[in-house]
Amino acid sequence: MQYNNLGKSGLKVSQLSYGAWVSFGNQLDVKEAKSLLQCCRDHGVNFFDNAEIYANGRAEEIMGQAIRELGWKRSDIVVSTKIFWGGQGPNDKGLSRKHIVEGTRASLKRLDMEYVDVIYCHRPDSCTPIEETVRAMNHVIDKGWAFYWGTSEWTSQQITEAWSVAQRLDLVGPIVEQPEYNLLNRHKVESEFLPLYSNYGIGLTTWSPLASGVLTGKYKKGVIPPDSRFALENYKGHLIGFVVTTNIVNLASRSLVDDVLRKVDGLKPIADELGVPLAQLSIAWCAANPNVSSVICGATKESQIQENMKAIDVIPLLTPAVMEKIEAVVQSKPKRPDSYR
Ligand SMILES: NC(=O)c1ccc[n+]([C@@H]2O[C@H](COP(=O)([O-])OP(=O)(O)OC[C@H]3O[C@@H](n4cnc5c(N)ncnc54)[C@H](OP(=O)(O)O)[C@@H]3O)[C@@H](O)[C@H]2O)c1
Repeated sequence: MQYNNLGKSGLKVSQLSYGAWVSFGNQLDVKEAKSLLQCCRDHGVNFFDNAEIYANGRAEEIMGQAIRELGWKRSDIVVSTKIFWGGQGPNDKGLSRKHIVEGTRASLKRLDMEYVDVIYCHRPDSCTPIEETVRAMNHVIDKGWAFYWGTSEWTSQQITEAWSVAQRLDLVGPIVEQPEYNLLNRHKVESEFLPLYSNYGIGLTTWSPLASGVLTGKYKKGVIPPDSRFALENYKGHLIGFVVTTNIVNLASRSLVDDVLRKVDGLKPIADELGVPLAQLSIAWCAANPNVSSVICGATKESQIQENMKAIDVIPLLTPAVMEKIEAVVQSKPKRPDSYR
């Protein structure tokens, strides 16, 4: 396993990491979590991601208990969590100083840890001045509850604003952004964020390298394997935050659209030609981007981790010729129906 600096910071994170979203608390409890976490460690993973919202806090409890029972040395690992959605009350969400401080303390309690290495603002909060958030994140660091702070799914403009506030006040700015990045979703990482890498040394820990499993090729039109994420009752309709009625996005039907399945079908022969599973090709493609510090993977089975970790060996196979073939598939447009011609 390769260990990359997290952006311009001195923190080293494994090129592939592991996150708790969906799986911990919905699909796995402590016993299974322990085996999966150990399997990751055995492959050299040192970075583990979580969030206060995951399984409404249960994911942090599971990760904390599993790590405690595994007896790992705390300094050997990098643990992160994310603050934004902490509960139903008006002050239980967002990036106010109140929720950042209370949310961080509650996360640490659930994790049963004195600190996390990295703490993220899980989304931007248009209702709180960025200065309040920057000051609160610096307070969290000064208190020793986190060593570094970052953002997740912020725009380039919002990150730039956070940095200009930090520089004006002689405070610490965000060192990392956590965006979605995979073969089906790449605009922010490859275009919008470009100035952030050189201007601020922002690192990336990217999420959903397999687009929730779609880029394994296991989902077909109308076919959802019963033991998969999209078969889960609460992820057929993915709950964002705690707002049930208006913010439900049907993750499965949003993901399994014709254009996506067509691209997945087009990528499969490229993986076959290289003699590797599509999951490995997809993860390797993310990790090959030099601006990506760590690709956060998910898995519900040890066999998935065993398979996905081999993606490291696929990176050297991504020659310019292979990348060109991949581009031709992912940039391709669906055929226009005859009636449009
Ligand atoms: N910041 C954010 O807003 C945000 C958002 C989402 C995720 N994240 C972070 O990113 C992490 C990874 O995201 P993700 O879980 O969506 O990653 P992903 O790699 O896109 O999907 C992982 C899921 O795909 C399936 N899978 C993985 N490997 C497979 C294989 N080899 N064969 C077949 N199925 C396989 C498993 O689900 P099943 O077995 O259940 O099908 C697994 O849980 C999360 O845990 C979280 O830490 C952050």
